[in-house]
Amino acid sequence: MEIRYLEQDHFLRDFFPLIVELECGSHYDTANPQHREWISRRVGALYAMSGNAISLYSDEGTPMGFFFLLHDRGLAGVRCFGKKGTIAMFGLFPEFRSQGIGASLLREAETFLLRHGGECLYVDTYANNAGAIRYYTKEGFIPVAYHPGENGLDDKGQVYLYKALI
Ligand SMILES: CC(C)(COP(=O)(O)OP(=O)(O)OC[C@H]1O[C@@H](n2cnc3c(N)ncnc32)[C@H](O)[C@@H]1OP(=O)(O)O)[C@@H](O)C(=O)NCCC(=O)NCCS
Repeated sequence: MEIRYLEQDHFLRDFFPLIVELECGSHYDTANPQHREWISRRVGALYAMSGNAISLYSDEGTPMGFFFLLHDRGLAGVRCFGKKGTIAMFGLFPEFRSQGIGASLLREAETFLLRHGGECLYVDTYANNAGAIRYYTKEGFIPVAYHPGENGLDDKGQVYLYKALI
């Protein structure tokens, strides 16, 4: 397996279906051009916010999954900036899940963050996604907040989890 840091066009080309799954679930409509345009615009915004698409490929060059890390180092020389990294998206294509493979992406992202002055990592996930919450807890994250209303007042909100890296 090989880890690559991808430019925006390459990332969209190799991982579009997985980005759609992670961002929209089953709500994405292939017949609606606004849906495609929204995904492209959102990914562009994440790159503009100092995002890194840390991506995993098989030895044969097959895209397996990615970890989209946001880390803005902020003002140079100012101590309180750049401490926090955020997982914007994290997933593997279905055939590669539940084999312990995601951990290699998480380790790479944590090492990258530490090397660039980061000290902690945040993620939020749908409160109904018990599998993801279990996964992050297994990886050392602690649930620190619940935000109701983010998915509608009649729906479950988002759970925020945090991991100190030092
Ligand atoms: C999250 C993810 C990257 C973890 O990588 P991985 O290599 O599969 O992780 P592991 O093999 O170490 O652990 C898998 C465990 O994670 C949990 N898990 C993670 N995401 C899950 C999901 N969407 N649904 C159900 N369980 C999930 C389960 O407990 C699973 O255990 P199981 O194999 O007994 O079912 C991968 O499972 C994935 O792509 N999941 C779907 C996308 C997702 O939920 N992303 C996180 C949302 S923020």
